[in-house]
Amino acid sequence: MKVRKAVIPAAGLGTRFLPATKALPKEMLPIVDKPTIQFIVEEAKASGIEDILIVTGKNKQAIENHFDSNPELEQDLEKTGKSGLLKLTQGITDLGVNLYYTRQPHPAGLGDAVYRARSFVAGEPFVIMLGDDLMKDKVPLTKQLINDYDKTHASTIAVMKVPHKEVSKYGVIAPDGEIADDLYNVKNFVEKPDVDKAPSDLAIIGRYLLTPEIFDVLEYQKPGRGGEVQLTDAIDTMNKTQRVFAQVFKGQRFDVGNKEGYLETSIQYGLKHPETRDALRKYIKELGKTL
Ligand code: G1P
Repeated sequence: MKVRKAVIPAAGLGTRFLPATKALPKEMLPIVDKPTIQFIVEEAKASGIEDILIVTGKNKQAIENHFDSNPELEQDLEKTGKSGLLKLTQGITDLGVNLYYTRQPHPAGLGDAVYRARSFVAGEPFVIMLGDDLMKDKVPLTKQLINDYDKTHASTIAVMKVPHKEVSKYGVIAPDGEIADDLYNVKNFVEKPDVDKAPSDLAIIGRYLLTPEIFDVLEYQKPGRGGEVQLTDAIDTMNKTQRVFAQVFKGQRFDVGNKEGYLETSIQYGLKHPETRDALRKYIKELGKTL
């Protein structure tokens, strides 16, 4: 079956970015001039996804407004002859994917947020895309997972090697042999293990291709790490009855889910953006001399 659907969990409280995220969804924080969630939707589109469900929560209306039209703004841009900005603004409403929204009433964990997508997914294989990670590669990571699925018809989770001392921030896999280039069998999936107990340095990085049987597991999934329903725990259970592979991502990953990563990503993207790159490069060089 063709993979056509994506779920983007966006219900998190964004506490790492308070006070900015008191009234503003963290998914709307911009990298240069684009909200992080737009990068995710664009990756989905570039991977051939047709339908996207965004799981939101309280205070997240700005996300829906962002992907909607804004007639007053568009009229103004038209009147003032700002055709480039008009095209940019209209382009967001015209991304060529269908967006759907549902709300997670309580922040009960990633597994609980994903479970809200059960009837949307309706028995098809689908992808989950987390907004904290922006990925760059020749082929979008989501498309790489879909390409794997087309060959294996099995769930595949994207992983990446991270520094050993950071493993406790992630879901971590115990690999069980490479079956094809960068594609591994997995013995266990462990959510945020203690550093000395982590089975490897291969961390789950926010792109999952799952078969719909995950919902049968999530339905009865008990809260795990942090008292929350963990997607990683459900994946580990599913791996006992059907294969779940891990694919090591070889492209670039930008973690925008914490302050330091967010600032680094802003600099990296600013150095590529045509409107900012020259001035920013000059500024960074000057700044470097004073540090
Ligand atoms: C979530 C998942 C974790 C994964 C991480 C990737 O954790 O639970 O397994 O490694 O995303 O970003 P969170 O960052 O939401 O705490």
